[in-house]
Amino acid sequence: MLSKSIALLFLAGATVAQQFSQVCPITAPACSLQGSANTCCVAKDGWIVYAETWVPSVTPSNKFTIHGLWPDRCNGTWSDSGCDASRNYTSTGDIVKARNPDLFNLMNKIWQSSSGPNSDFWDHEWNKHGTCLTTIDPQCFVNYQKYDELIKYFEIVTAQHAKYDFYKALADEGIVPGANYTRSSMEAALNKNAGIRSLVRCDKTGTFTEVWAYFDILGQDTFLPRVPDYNPNDCQNLYYPPKTVKKC
Ligand SMILES: *[C@@H]1O[C@H](CO)[C@@H](O)[C@H](O)[C@H]1NC(C)=O
Ligand SMILES: *[C@@H]1O[C@H](CO)[C@@H](O)[C@H](O)[C@H]1NC(C)=O
Ligand SMILES: *[C@@H]1O[C@H](CO)[C@@H](O)[C@H](O)[C@H]1NC(C)=O
Repeated sequence: MLSKSIALLFLAGATVAQQFSQVCPITAPACSLQGSANTCCVAKDGWIVYAETWVPSVTPSNKFTIHGLWPDRCNGTWSDSGCDASRNYTSTGDIVKARNPDLFNLMNKIWQSSSGPNSDFWDHEWNKHGTCLTTIDPQCFVNYQKYDELIKYFEIVTAQHAKYDFYKALADEGIVPGANYTRSSMEAALNKNAGIRSLVRCDKTGTFTEVWAYFDILGQDTFLPRVPDYNPNDCQNLYYPPKTVKKC
């Protein structure tokens, strides 16, 4: 009997985990509401860059993988050292594995490091960027338990990957690996077929590396595509390399 009620308590605890304590209006972009004291509903760093990467050595061969989701300040700058050193978490892989094994397995597929352990990469993304998303600060949760906001961040980021298929958006316009394309044709394809406004990025040799998709944030985690706040003149003609990974 006792163990049953403990089990029930545990279940009840689990169901309230990671629940936001407020219902936020999602009517206006955070950057038009700056100065609001309610940073759980109005993101302080309200411009979001969601970055996916094209790493030839990383599976699968027809999908982009996640780089990160980066809150920028509304004046276009950002912090290089994160926004809360007291929540500089390490071993985030172990934390997410214990709390949500399905999410852990998913992240190992779609959020891979190109060098070094995935968990170290996730630590870095969380500490440098996740801590800057004020709508998931600890005080924004009901019965906050340590790491609720970390798990929420990972859920928010992986949800963007589920929502957008950049590879398909490009392929539907005939933009496939193994040839050169203009940056503007790639951005136009992503706009037309994925509904995002983006910057296509390249390395020093002109090889395509990443897509940075730009969003306004409304409420806690509603993202509305917007035009990039800057428009560099680079990467005009890029090589889209095939992935070198074996199909499995
Ligand atoms: C942008 O905003 C940050 C934080 O409010 C401030 O520290 C920084 O000086 C601002 N930078 C510019 C270029 O306005
Ligand atoms: C987090 O801690 C690590 C190790 O102590 C350090 O190298 C890193 O710079 C810290 N990151 C941030 C964003 O504070
Ligand atoms: C393809 O793009 C690369 C990188 O910009 C460039 O070095 C190469 O000359 C291009 N090839 C063609 C056929 O345009």
